Amino acid sequence: METEKVRMTQDYNQNSHAQRNSALCSITNITACVREMIEKNPDRFKNNELPFTIADLGCAGGNNAIPALDSIIILIREINPELPISIYLNDTPSNDFSLAMKTVNSGLEKHKNIWIYSTGKSFYEGLFPENSMDLIFSTSSVHWIPRSPAPLATMSCFLTDELAATPEGKIWEKEADQYWKLFLELRYKELRRDGRLFIITPGLSDPASEDDIRFVNQSLIWKSTFLEALKQFDLPADNDYSLPIILRPLKYYKKAAEDKTTEMQLLETFSTTHEQIEGDKDSKVYLSRLTNWIRAATSEFLKSKMIQKGINEESARKVLDEYYNKKLMQSLLQEDDPQKPLKLYFLGLV
Ligand SMILES: C[S@@+](CC[C@H](N)C(=O)[O-])C[C@H]1O[C@@H](n2cnc3c(N)ncnc32)[C@H](O)[C@@H]1O
Repeated sequence: METEKVRMTQDYNQNSHAQRNSALCSITNITACVREMIEKNPDRFKNNELPFTIADLGCAGGNNAIPALDSIIILIREINPELPISIYLNDTPSNDFSLAMKTVNSGLEKHKNIWIYSTGKSFYEGLFPENSMDLIFSTSSVHWIPRSPAPLATMSCFLTDELAATPEGKIWEKEADQYWKLFLELRYKELRRDGRLFIITPGLSDPASEDDIRFVNQSLIWKSTFLEALKQFDLPADNDYSLPIILRPLKYYKKAAEDKTTEMQLLETFSTTHEQIEGDKDSKVYLSRLTNWIRAATSEFLKSKMIQKGINEESARKVLDEYYNKKLMQSLLQEDDPQKPLKLYFLGLV
């Protein structure tokens, strides 16, 4: 299965505040999940030498996994200071694993008996032997599907009720449902019987909130200004430059549990809405924070898509410069309110 090439870089590690905030906000949830595992099955932790196995799926540069991993290790060490802990960092093969390994190794260096590995393979394929994993977690990644199945006016898909009623919306909905089901089937096989799957993903409130709609409107601007930047350099501005990501309400994720796709039970759901990009009286400060964040999330995808379409590296660089440094800033300044913090909605599933 061919997956769009995505490669998050050091720029992502430094500018992914929104994703980092959502990971930090759910530390209490992930530690509660591990505490419950300990209570239910103390022998797995106490009188055991079998390494406790953890995977982070869609690890990117690794930075945002460190707080959760650190808290989990501290908790396990209270029970068993000697238990070996194996950590698998997963992302697509084109990810910068040398950055991820360096970042996570140094972030966890104070801990002993920790074994860190990387695995470059799509999480829509089998990643681990059957019945081998204790805890699989994934933050801000399962909203990615391998490819965009239909053109959109926005930079990514927001499956609001309005979009879900359109032909493109139905195609995205079906595709995302199929991949979510596949993801669950694969993880179900890989998890030990008492293992846990812990997911955080950007989503949408149901019905879409004012903040969600603001984000949809921003995404329209991200896309239209990128197409303008292409046109400025006389390059074809076709409509398939949308990231293969879909934000949708909890009901779509729950459907797989209700349909009993696997025997896994949905134990808990939660959501967080918080300030992701702070507002600022000085619109330039807000806009530079916002564009750094947008650049970190989109630049590598847009660059590789342009190159796939035969645009040379030099021209692709010029388009991206024009896009992030001028066009996007100008349009956001006209359309958005810099004093109002940008809020994103994240869903959690255990
Ligand atoms: C927005 S980043 C999230 C990174 C990090 N987990 C965080 O919380 O900040 C999404 C990551 O998912 C990865 N990804 C997307 N599709 C994937 C797939 N099919 N298999 C593995 N990783 C994937 C991307 O390469 C990217 O690094």
